[in-house]
Amino acid sequence: MKGIILAGGTGSRLMPLTKVTNKHLLPIYDKPMIYYPLQTLIDLDIKEVMIVSGRGHAGHFLELLGSGAEVGVKLSYAVQEKAGGIAEALGLCEDFAEKDPVCVILGDNIFENPPQIKSYKKGAMIFLKEVGDARRFGVATLDKNKRVVKIVEKPVHPETNYAVIGFYVYDNEVFKIIKTLKPSARGELEITDVNNEYIKRKILQAEVIKGYWTDAGTFETLFRASELIRGNGKKKNL
Ligand code: G1P
Repeated sequence: MKGIILAGGTGSRLMPLTKVTNKHLLPIYDKPMIYYPLQTLIDLDIKEVMIVSGRGHAGHFLELLGSGAEVGVKLSYAVQEKAGGIAEALGLCEDFAEKDPVCVILGDNIFENPPQIKSYKKGAMIFLKEVGDARRFGVATLDKNKRVVKIVEKPVHPETNYAVIGFYVYDNEVFKIIKTLKPSARGELEITDVNNEYIKRKILQAEVIKGYWTDAGTFETLFRASELIRGNGKKKNL
């Protein structure tokens, strides 16, 4: 399976840290943020990775990570012209995917353990984590058989505490689905709309992940991510 790291966006919640650089180049404890999602994909034995970033900073990722030879992966790069959303960024990877399923990770998601994708069969696979502040995320509603019946993006009154984390596996249909999406109220193509389409087609698998997980897109979570990594004690390869 090929991997995709989505590292675009304006990082507006982290201004002024993101005034002259990309969020995913900011430090998490002792490394630039992007190292962590890359390591998560490497831990899953993924050998080819595409990094999608925005204009202005794409060259910085190339300078930092190069061809990927140092860490044993083949890196490619794509540029998202405007901050049009996670689903739009993923849509740029259609040729890279070459009809195969893809493993997609958001560049600001930090995991203790890589999500387990071995049970992926077809369609889409998403991962959930119980959180205290569900309103910041896509939130999943489950039926009594623990199947996801709907996902609401940043609900004001979340129905559950299950956040949809920024790690997804999709078959090639995802690129067709993305082409049918309309921008949301925040003017973006939402990954939640993609996942809801897979729910409609009854081919969405969901797993609750073990170990800690956080995003790092706010001051609080950026700080927390550094604390988690510092305290983790596990030696990372990168
Ligand atoms: C995005 C997704 C959201 C998901 C979150 C995970 O939100 O839209 O569904 O729960 O990532 O980090 P964003 O942080 O881009 O607002």
